[in-house]
Amino acid sequence: MGTAIKIAPSILAADFARLGQAVAEAEAAGADYIHVDVMDGHFVPNITLGPLVVQALRRATSLPLDVHLMIEAPERYLAAFAQAGANHLTVHAETCPHLHRTLQQIHALGCRAGVALNPSTPPVAVSEIVNDADLILVMTVNPGFGGQTFIAGMLDKVQRVRALLDEHGSAAELEVDGGIDPETAPYVVAAGARVLVAGSAVFHTRESIAEAVAAIRRAAETKRPAAPLRAGLGVVEYGA
Ligand code: DX5
Ligand code: ZN
Repeated sequence: MGTAIKIAPSILAADFARLGQAVAEAEAAGADYIHVDVMDGHFVPNITLGPLVVQALRRATSLPLDVHLMIEAPERYLAAFAQAGANHLTVHAETCPHLHRTLQQIHALGCRAGVALNPSTPPVAVSEIVNDADLILVMTVNPGFGGQTFIAGMLDKVQRVRALLDEHGSAAELEVDGGIDPETAPYVVAAGARVLVAGSAVFHTRESIAEAVAAIRRAAETKRPAAPLRAGLGVVEYGA
């Protein structure tokens, strides 16, 4: 460990009628990135938002906008999201037959380039491009919806992606997304994740956004999993 953990609240779980305020509160709470989930109703079953909303978010925060493109043929929209003010553009490996070219396109637009992996996609999908990406996103739920249960079996994959990055001397950030909360955070950090996306655990709690972000950060930075988490477990248990 020793490396700082970054928290990226996902606005998918925020009140869309007051997104600006939610983002401002997340920034005041010490969030590092604002995670923006773009869904097209094809690659994933849900539909969310497009460049216009990213443009509005750009005016509401100075934090980097971490834009997660859950869309088919994402290369069609990279320029639009870059112009709207995205800082990170993360595409899914499953949607990019010419992944290396797509990463080049993202860099040419002046953005940091990320690659996301569905739960069923193995680390080898990014093995040839780990030095061309700035961020690797391991999905810890199947993409499409917030509020799903963390897939415990993904911890092993996070570890293998960590090893892949280290083996290649890649400085890419290792991000996890889905079911991250104060319970699961220590596990993903122990497995090697350094950027934690959290939607429900930030915006759907009885606590304030500030308290929720602080609780995830505290758990991520100070707690250690007491016992290895078994693959397939729906609920994680650990000792503080
Ligand atoms: C899922 C999205 C996630 C989602 C996470 O498809 O990519 O970013 O917002 O939500 P929680 O933290 O509630 O699992
Ligand atoms: Zn996401």
